[in-house]
Amino acid sequence: MDRATRHRIARLYDNRLQRLYVRSKLASDPVYAATAAIVGGSDLPLLDIGCGIGLLGQYLNAQGHSLPYLGLDHDERKIKAGRRAVQHAGLGAVMALHHADVAELPSVQGHVALLDVLHYLSAAQQLTLLQAAARHLAPQGCLIIRNVLREPNWRFHATGLEEFFLRTSGWIPGGVQHYPTASELRTPLENAELDVRFESLRGRTPFNSYLIVARPHR
Ligand SMILES: C[S@@+](CC[C@H](N)C(=O)[O-])C[C@H]1O[C@@H](n2cnc3c(N)ncnc32)[C@H](O)[C@@H]1O
Repeated sequence: MDRATRHRIARLYDNRLQRLYVRSKLASDPVYAATAAIVGGSDLPLLDIGCGIGLLGQYLNAQGHSLPYLGLDHDERKIKAGRRAVQHAGLGAVMALHHADVAELPSVQGHVALLDVLHYLSAAQQLTLLQAAARHLAPQGCLIIRNVLREPNWRFHATGLEEFFLRTSGWIPGGVQHYPTASELRTPLENAELDVRFESLRGRTPFNSYLIVARPHR
């Protein structure tokens, strides 16, 4: 995504700190481009669970992908900021943001995204959510997860430091509950009859992040 587009998206957000966050996130994090490469060209709806301020929807639209986007997050401040941005961008017909917990998913079926969300839930909640996410996939849909995985390396420990700052700054109230291992994700997804693929996706960060893509057997 070019600089002008990053700045145009950032200007949709009212708060100066959020604009700064949006510019740097879009410049440095490969997760939105990775998601666009998977869902691009599809017109299935995308359910973005733990959508934050709805950046994934803004990114997809700016890159010319017009699939219906439904974001959901339990942080009302972020949903309000995201809704204002949708309004400023005139995207009310394709983007909707709901204030809700991950335990209250709407009945849509299509693609599902879970980007940097799972570790804010307990291990038991993660399992329930993965099973629910699998049920929200259309036959041609994809489940796209990006998460730090629990592994015995320094990258995993660097993540803990970042989360400390996120929690103390108030950006993510509550903080981390449980970093999953690869097998804690793979097993329930395979049990739901999905093909699962893992790849490292760190971008320009030191963190132990992976992209996990799961699709119904075809
Ligand atoms: C690190 S942010 C990621 C935001 C977005 N997915 C992205 O990548 O741009 C994690 C988000 O998960 C949301 N979240 C955490 N626990 C949640 C829950 N139980 N229900 C709904 N949203 C939740 C937080 O409010 C936060 O917006």
